[in-house]
Amino acid sequence: MKTIFIFILLISSLVASEYKSKVAGVAPVNNSLYIKECGACHFAYQPGLLPSNSWKKMMSNLESHFGADATLAQEDFVAISQYLEQNSAEKAYAYKRSYKIANSMRDDGTIIAISKTPYFIKEHKGIPKKYIEQESVKGLFNCIACHTTAQKGIYSERDILIPNYGRWDD
Ligand code: HEC
Ligand code: HEC
Repeated sequence: MKTIFIFILLISSLVASEYKSKVAGVAPVNNSLYIKECGACHFAYQPGLLPSNSWKKMMSNLESHFGADATLAQEDFVAISQYLEQNSAEKAYAYKRSYKIANSMRDDGTIIAISKTPYFIKEHKGIPKKYIEQESVKGLFNCIACHTTAQKGIYSERDILIPNYGRWDD
């Protein structure tokens, strides 16, 4: 009995330390070429928001990128692919959000929209449609419209400010 108890204590402290050691959010973008090229039409999504399989799939079809042509010069393509690969979600498990996103996609590494990943859908399902579809947001792809600190890789609840709604309090 006693050994079982000690065993349970040990496991729970291991789980707790694994959780506590994680940094909130995702690693901020630190690559100016990436910001210039992949931040031209929308917010420069942090590489830690998707696993490498998803980035590879997206990069393999930039001609038809969500209906836009996002093709790159060959050397920029190589540099950006490498940057995404090296900083993808499963390479950044020290960051809590990267860990959760990659973990939610264990069975499917082929989703290429962050907003279509299981973890993301779960976190955003409580937001009324009218606040997502309104003109000043347009869609869930527009992280920075609601997450005021998205550029720093911080997505905490206290930093959310939804246009025409206000602070999120659930
Ligand atoms: C020519 C404009 C353009 C460029 C350049 C561009 N994108 Fe996009 N991207 C789009 C559009 C349009 C969407 C769709 C947004 C929407 O849902 O309406 C999109 C969506 C995305 C999404 C999915 C967002 C979501 O819903 O989760 C990711 C990730 C993404 N782009 C990454 C990149 C990366 C990485 C690069 C650089 C290699 C890049 N984009 C360059 C236009 C562009
Ligand atoms: C319409 C506003 C809106 C947009 C756009 C939006 N979010 Fe959110 N997001 C929220 C709200 C509200 C929550 C809090 C949900 C809750 O905890 O009930 C949230 C939660 C999150 C969380 C979990 C935070 C936590 O502390 O649990 C992450 C991570 C996140 N969003 C990332 C993103 C990313 C990345 C994008 C863009 C691809 C994005 N969001 C776009 C409103 C938005």
